[in-house]
Amino acid sequence: MNAIREKTAQGQSRDPLLSMRGIGKTYGEVRALSDVSLTLAAGEIRAICGENGAGKSTLVKALTGIVAPDKGEVWLDGAQVHFAAPKDAQAHGINLVSQELSICPDLTVLDNIWLGALSLPFLHRRADLRSRAAEVLKRLGAEHIALDGLAGHLSTGERQLIEIARMLARDTRILILDEPTATLSDKEIHVLMSALKSLRAHGTSILYITHRLGEVFELCDHATVMRGGTVVADLPVAELTRDRLIELMLGRALGHMFPEHHIADGATFFAIDRLNVPGAAHNVSLSVTKGQIMCLTGQLGCGADEVIRVVAGLVSHANGRITLDDAEIPLGRPEVARRRGVRFVSGDRAEEGVFIDRPAWENLVAPRFVERGGAKLVQNRALRGEAAMLADRSTLARHRLPVRTGDLSGGNQQKLAFGRNIGDGAAKLILMIEPTRGIDVGARAEIYRLMRDFCEQGCAILMASSDFAEVLGIADVVATMFRGEIVKTYKTGHLDMTRLIADVTHPEEENA
Ligand SMILES: Nc1ncnc2c1ncn2[C@@H]1O[C@H](COP(=O)(O)OP(=O)(O)OP(=O)(O)O)[C@@H](O)[C@H]1O
Ligand SMILES: [Mg+2]
Repeated sequence: MNAIREKTAQGQSRDPLLSMRGIGKTYGEVRALSDVSLTLAAGEIRAICGENGAGKSTLVKALTGIVAPDKGEVWLDGAQVHFAAPKDAQAHGINLVSQELSICPDLTVLDNIWLGALSLPFLHRRADLRSRAAEVLKRLGAEHIALDGLAGHLSTGERQLIEIARMLARDTRILILDEPTATLSDKEIHVLMSALKSLRAHGTSILYITHRLGEVFELCDHATVMRGGTVVADLPVAELTRDRLIELMLGRALGHMFPEHHIADGATFFAIDRLNVPGAAHNVSLSVTKGQIMCLTGQLGCGADEVIRVVAGLVSHANGRITLDDAEIPLGRPEVARRRGVRFVSGDRAEEGVFIDRPAWENLVAPRFVERGGAKLVQNRALRGEAAMLADRSTLARHRLPVRTGDLSGGNQQKLAFGRNIGDGAAKLILMIEPTRGIDVGARAEIYRLMRDFCEQGCAILMASSDFAEVLGIADVVATMFRGEIVKTYKTGHLDMTRLIADVTHPEEENA
């Protein structure tokens, strides 16, 4: 078969560099992909958009030899190719930064960057590898990350940057990024966007998966929109609006993203007084009333996540006083914090302690059967009913309940982590770190609604987020943070994006 010709945005015909045709993949009953086709030209950035579970990751895994498709063909440079394993794709210059991080914590940053590279090292002196790695980190604005440091000591966002650096360091014709910005904050995202634009200018083609729709409009030339494992649209981004894109993804209009704010003030319900965490947070004090959502925000490493972990009882080397509903929460005692009504939803599924080999429904009710003493209750019908209720509340489709948790899409795993912590009547304060990381735009709106409902039932939420649009949209009170300290606290309506960015990047220093 000859290579197909397609029309470019300018109307000229040219051969696509890559074309995937009629790709199909089923897992048991689940049709992850059916008859999916897409093309990619040299120097084109193509977005792949769609709800959680739409098939985006499966598609790029099918392209790169991680998953074997049941049907379809892949053509590269006008010839059909078969990639049985990722190394085959790599040999053709096709590199994937996947949604699941694959950093080895026990290796140095440098070794992680070159890990698994083909044809490497015998030809290269170590000094060359170092300077190439350093150059790539610099392009990502990550020159502060030490090449000889252990990767295990890096934050999630920094690990993500290393994943990207790893692929940039290789000779890449087609770079595939599966939600590369889910764990990055605005500043890092900005630098990444510039790096990707410059790659495009040098002729690299990019497939780009993201739930942050702003990135589609800023970065991408074309968009392939998927729903339920099929392609529902394939358009130049210039012909799309945000609302239209959302409609294509969800099959319906979205309505409001954020619920109304909680304005009324009341007595202090939850308070932190002069909290110190050596090396991470200094002299942090704040208070929250019933019904409020308070958000700590800043750049990566600003200390917001650490404050949340302290309240959850997960940090032992902190000092300060924490009270909830007139009771003191001792530091470093997660089980006591939980008994007093504190619930923690981490954006990090590994930290969350999700059992990936168990079905989704068991993970939803896991906190319950631990409380009620014993895994024998796993068969309990009541628990299954409870799981169904929690799934509804966290917008996880019920048909996903029997699925092995590790086989759920990234976003659906995140919903699970959320659902398991909100269900019981004893919760008073929900702690969240990056609660909608990797969640599609429709489910995100539902989760914000859920957070608001939870607060209206007389509880409160303390969250950390580096997604500034989310912070401004959902929080009733915002504390901006910089290098472990609160810069300022604002009520809703008294803060805008410019002020927020100025606070978290510390204007005094920039002006100095
Ligand atoms: N190894 C697997 N075994 C069984 N089902 C799977 C497996 N991998 C994916 N699936 C299913 O295939 C469908 C598509 O999943 P995929 O991970 O491609 O979604 P996605 O579009 O990347 O979603 P997200 O935005 O949440 O990352 C989902 O229903 C998912 O549960
Ligand atoms: Mg995915």
